[in-house]
Amino acid sequence: MKALIHLSFRALGCKLGEDFLFGTATAALQIEGGDKNNNWYRWAEQGHIKDHTSPLRANDHWKRFKEDIELLAELGVQTHRMGLEWSRIEPEPGKFSREGIEHYIEEISLLAKYNIRPLVTLYHFSHPLWFEDKGGWENESSISDFLRYVEFVVSNLKHLVNDWVTINEPNVYLSYGYVLGSWPPGKQDSNAMIRAARNLSLAHIDAYKLIHSLQESEKEPTLVGVAHHLRVFSPLSPFSPLDHFSAFLNDFVFQGIFLEAMGKGKFLPPLGSGYPRGKGNFQDFIGINYYSRDKIQFIWNPPELFAKRVVAQGAPTNDLGWEIYPRGLSLLIKRVWKRYKLPIFITENGTCDREDRFRPQFLYDHLKEVASVIQQGIPVKRYYHWTLIDNFEWIEGESASFGLLANKYETQTRSWRNSAKFYQQICKTKSITP
Ligand code: NOJ
Repeated sequence: MKALIHLSFRALGCKLGEDFLFGTATAALQIEGGDKNNNWYRWAEQGHIKDHTSPLRANDHWKRFKEDIELLAELGVQTHRMGLEWSRIEPEPGKFSREGIEHYIEEISLLAKYNIRPLVTLYHFSHPLWFEDKGGWENESSISDFLRYVEFVVSNLKHLVNDWVTINEPNVYLSYGYVLGSWPPGKQDSNAMIRAARNLSLAHIDAYKLIHSLQESEKEPTLVGVAHHLRVFSPLSPFSPLDHFSAFLNDFVFQGIFLEAMGKGKFLPPLGSGYPRGKGNFQDFIGINYYSRDKIQFIWNPPELFAKRVVAQGAPTNDLGWEIYPRGLSLLIKRVWKRYKLPIFITENGTCDREDRFRPQFLYDHLKEVASVIQQGIPVKRYYHWTLIDNFEWIEGESASFGLLANKYETQTRSWRNSAKFYQQICKTKSITP
C-alpha cells in the first residue's frame, strides 16, 4: 500500500485537498527591526549573539511590510502566520500604544486585501523590558500581565483575525533561557524554569478562555492553539533499555508535559499536579513546529535528563547540523492525533540552507509525509513553511538562513531562491510534485 501511495505521488503529484491551506510563518522580533524595548535587543547589546548582529536591524519589515506582503501574494500562500511584538503594543505596563496596534491593523488588513488568512502569534520568545525586569514568566504576575495584553490585542483585532497562536514553543524558550542559559534571561536554574513553565501553561489556558469569550459574537469560529515544538527522541541503541528510558524521559519533560497542560489542563510533575484550571480542551487545533530528531544515549548526568543528544550516524543534516528526518513529521502527527483528536496545523517546518542545496527536497519530503497522513484520514489542515525570508535567527543572528527568499541585509534586498519558486508551484496547485 505504502509503495502504491509513493508511486502515485511520483507519477501524478499529490493533491492535498481544496480546503488545505499553504502558508509561511514569521515572528515579529525576527523580521521587524527598529525596536529596543525588548529582551532580545538587550541580549544582543550584551554581546550574546554569535555573529554580533542585532534584531534592531533584522529585515526592516516594520517599514517594508507592504513589499513583503506583496511577496507573500506572489508566492501564492493562502495563509500567513505572523507575530505581534508585545513591547510595541504595551511599551509600559498598562499603557497601550495606539500607534503600535494601528500598525498591525494596517498590516493585517493588507493581508486580507490579498485574501491571505492571518494566523496571529501573541507571544514568540520576545517581550517588553518592563516584563523582563519584573522576572518575566517566573513571576506569577506574568499571567495577568499577559492577559491584559491579550485582551487589548484581541479587542482591537477581532474584526480581522479569527485564528490565534497564544504561545510559541514554550519548551524551547525555557530550555535555552533557563537550562542552557544561552538565551535571555540567561539562567541555569531548574526551579525558576519550572515556575516559568507553570505560568506559561496557565497563561495559555486563561488566554484560550479569554479569546473565546471576546470573540463569542463573531460569525466565523475562533481557533486558538499553541505552536508546540515537537521532536522525535529515539534511543541511540534500540537494544539498550537505558537509552530507551532516557529517550522516554526527554520526550516527556521536553514536550509531553506541555501538550498535556496546555491541551487538557492536566498538570504533571514537575509542572504541578491535577487540573488547576479545571479539565477541558484548551486548544482548537494542535500546532506542530517540526524540525528534527535526536538520538538519545543514556549518560549519568541527571541535570541533563540522563541524555547525550546525538545525530544519527550518516544521517543528512542542515547547515546547523540538525538531522533532516522527514518521517518524524508523520510519526508526531499520528501520535498527537491519537491522543488529542484535534485538527492539526503544521505551524512551522523548514530548514537552514544558505545555498538552497536541499531545501526543495526537504519541502517535498516533508509535505509527502503530510499527504500520507491525510490519506490515512488524519485532519491536517494547514502547513506553514518557516520562513518567508532569511531573518534574525535568535542566538545565531543573521548567519542562519531559513528563508524561501534570501535577504541582503545591507540593502534589504529580497531575492527568490529556487525553493521559493518550488513552493509557489505547490501553493498555486495545492499539490506536490517532485
Ligand atoms: C522555531 C522558532 O519558533 C523560530 O522562531 C525559529 O526561527 C525556528 N524554529 C528555526 O530555528
